[in-house]
Amino acid sequence: MGEHYFSEKPSSPERRGLVKSRLRGLDFGFVTSSGVFSVRRVDRGTRLLVESMVLPGEGRVLDMGCGYGVVGVVAGRLAPGLEVWMTDINERAVSLARLNLERNGVEGAVVRQGDLYEPVEGMRFGVVLSNPPISAGLRRVVGPLVEGAVVHLESGGSLQVVVQSRKGGKALASMMEDAFGGVEVLARGGGYRVLMSVRD
Ligand SMILES: C[S@@+](CC[C@H](N)C(=O)[O-])C[C@H]1O[C@@H](n2cnc3c(N)ncnc32)[C@H](O)[C@@H]1O
Repeated sequence: MGEHYFSEKPSSPERRGLVKSRLRGLDFGFVTSSGVFSVRRVDRGTRLLVESMVLPGEGRVLDMGCGYGVVGVVAGRLAPGLEVWMTDINERAVSLARLNLERNGVEGAVVRQGDLYEPVEGMRFGVVLSNPPISAGLRRVVGPLVEGAVVHLESGGSLQVVVQSRKGGKALASMMEDAFGGVEVLARGGGYRVLMSVRD
């Protein structure tokens, strides 16, 4: 089988790059590598999520499927009082996320490798943020990601995800509606939308 950005252990030689980006009015630099998602630039969906995500000033936030770390890094810079957790199945992404936290001056965040919520078993969060791996399978991965958020969110906590309107947008909205009993559109633009559901 060919290598995907969601391979657990990418086998391609590591070719590193640097992506510079201005997000929420702040400048960031991200080290990237072959074998991870969106190597050349910050993905447009990720950008929309980051620009519209609603963060509390404190508490725990989870960046699920963190890739090289854009969402968690920006959350940590915007709200230093937050306890940021980041997870990804791809070990190369996990190493880059750790590097990028340090590179962008975010201290105290935790990055763990593993499948979906397995690395944060038993924990609860105020917010779960994700640009979910639609290519890894709506039913196989994205469904469990949404259902797992109900279990791992505190009461009043929210799941905020970005999706391409025409590539899984409707299906994801209906999964969130089913799991949470409601879903709203937080932002839209460039063919993407950010969806939010709040846990009772
Ligand atoms: C669309 S990418 C988003 C990456 C990063 N958050 C960004 O916005 O640039 C989805 C990420 O989910 C990760 N992923 C795929 N399947 C996963 C799983 N079962 N558990 C955890 N992470 C997974 C992929 O490795 C990838 O980094």
